[in-house]
Amino acid sequence: GRVAVALGGNSAEREVSLDSGRNVLEALRARGVDAHPVDGIPALLDALRAGHFARVFNILHGRGGEDGMLQGALRALGVPFTGSGVLGSALTMDKVRTKEVWIARGLPTPAFRAYRRGDDLAAAITALGYPVIVKPSHEGSSVGITRVRAEADLPAAIELATRYDGELVIEQLIEGGEFTVGILDDSALPSIQIVPKGEFYDYHAKYIAEDTQYLCPGLEGAAETQIRALALDAFRAVGASGWGRVDIMRDRDGRNWLLEVNTTPGMTSHSLVPKAARAAGVDFETLCWRILETSLA
Ligand code: DAL
Ligand code: MG
Repeated sequence: GRVAVALGGNSAEREVSLDSGRNVLEALRARGVDAHPVDGIPALLDALRAGHFARVFNILHGRGGEDGMLQGALRALGVPFTGSGVLGSALTMDKVRTKEVWIARGLPTPAFRAYRRGDDLAAAITALGYPVIVKPSHEGSSVGITRVRAEADLPAAIELATRYDGELVIEQLIEGGEFTVGILDDSALPSIQIVPKGEFYDYHAKYIAEDTQYLCPGLEGAAETQIRALALDAFRAVGASGWGRVDIMRDRDGRNWLLEVNTTPGMTSHSLVPKAARAAGVDFETLCWRILETSLA
């Protein structure tokens, strides 16, 4: 039957999703899938109720599409879709509660405090010490994130993140290497180490800069086996399924620290899951096909 490629939407990651979606659409069509783009959730629900599509390839990033809302609506309509269900999507869009689940499971994630306007900021910082990283709890693509090395820079970081979210994560900054592990068919792809030219892997380094370096596999031998196993444990612990990506920092002593899970990771020409899949011998078209198959589960 016809496949709706759900893209765009109105989150802060709209442009990234349009880019991801165009690539997915082209790949599915090249594989002979009768795939069509649908921009945003209201248009998608209208088209589904009119019986236009048999299943949904969800490549909406951020709030609405990646946070359980769409997944709940699709479940209610009985329409199969790619990727995680309601719980895994909702939980992983919330960095605070994702970290709480990992901590409860004994999985390593950097020390943090959840912060809302009016909370005792001094107490949070005293508990963590500098440097910290300040993030909106419910955003992606590094939107609204600042690294803070000294008290003087804290107010601007809080102000920026608060533009995107009422709840922030103030997290101990792990110095070391930035890694990510893609998940496909509920198993881990080779890790990628990201080596940005600037200070960190921000929105610019992610989607615009051409000088960010990617090493894949990011590690060798037992260390590679270990980081993949950790990623898969972390993915399962939060109820995510099908495909996704787990972001991890590796400190200078070789310890891994879980940052977050993305349940509809980017599929742009700069994105990481396609790179990891390629390293595992899975080309982009095959990757899209296998993600589409997760809607059958
Ligand atoms: N949130 C972006 C799309 C990613 O994780 O790739
Ligand atoms: Mg993310």
